Amino acid sequence: MKNKVYINEKIYDAENAKVSIFDRGYLFSDGIYELIPYFDKKPFLFDDHYSRLQKSLRMVEINNPYSEDKWVNDIENFVKTCIFENFYLYIQVTRGIPENFDDNILREHAATKNYKTCVTMFYSKIKNLKDNNIIGKKSIIMDDKRWMNCDIKSISLLYNSYAKTIAHKQGAFEAILLRDGIVTEGCSSNVFIIKNNTIKTSPESNLILPGVTRSFVINSVIKDSDYDVREENFSEEELLDADEIFITNSTQGILPITHINNKEINNAECGYITSKLYKIFTEKIN
Ligand code: PDD
Repeated sequence: MKNKVYINEKIYDAENAKVSIFDRGYLFSDGIYELIPYFDKKPFLFDDHYSRLQKSLRMVEINNPYSEDKWVNDIENFVKTCIFENFYLYIQVTRGIPENFDDNILREHAATKNYKTCVTMFYSKIKNLKDNNIIGKKSIIMDDKRWMNCDIKSISLLYNSYAKTIAHKQGAFEAILLRDGIVTEGCSSNVFIIKNNTIKTSPESNLILPGVTRSFVINSVIKDSDYDVREENFSEEELLDADEIFITNSTQGILPITHINNKEINNAECGYITSKLYKIFTEKIN
């Protein structure tokens, strides 16, 4: 494998990349992550991803171990080792391992010690959204059983990955999550519905991840279209009654949803407005 991995300022061949099993990320999911897409080797919306990384760290009170200049420098040097044109950079920062184990306590829930923060990065190949034919995907609906701080990009993705696996087993790509009858977001995406030419998406709150793509679609893509967007809660009924549905995230950009629980949306085709937004979106990539 030609992949490289970054661990705490050093770059390793992927197969030799190792972190301690006493890392609090491994033991308690005590860490956060960020995912930055690169198209034609250029980062897309880097500053927004970096700001969210800083915000997530602040929210879980993990010290940012590097200055912004060091982050930029280390990321630039690391992605130089990537052979792909289109990829995402995965960055994980965990509270790390205790500076010493003098007390012989190897695992304790409360983070009472001094820790060596652990920064890891790797990259993974993705498609260039510009070349991509826009293909609709199926989604199911599931209860949102996550904790109440979904606005933190925490590495604790147990429910997200569980629900997405259920979706996969049912032939769907995503599970759209419902809390008290209200749509929050997808397991790895934000959700937009369109009804009578009006676009709606859940407002930012502790119940959703403030998606970088979501903001870009609202503030840059829809702004340059003939349509308006309302950041408002919407119900399961509104979701099922939508003319068009699409989801957004960093690796897929805008992705039309053509079925919800086997109910066809827009005759199982990507809708007119979604296609227009997709086109504007791809034209704005770098
Ligand atoms: N996930 N909501 C959740 C729960 C997510 O995991 C993601 C992205 C989004 C969209 O955020 P953004 O537009 O910033 O990518 C919303 C990434 C892609 C992942 O975990 O792989």
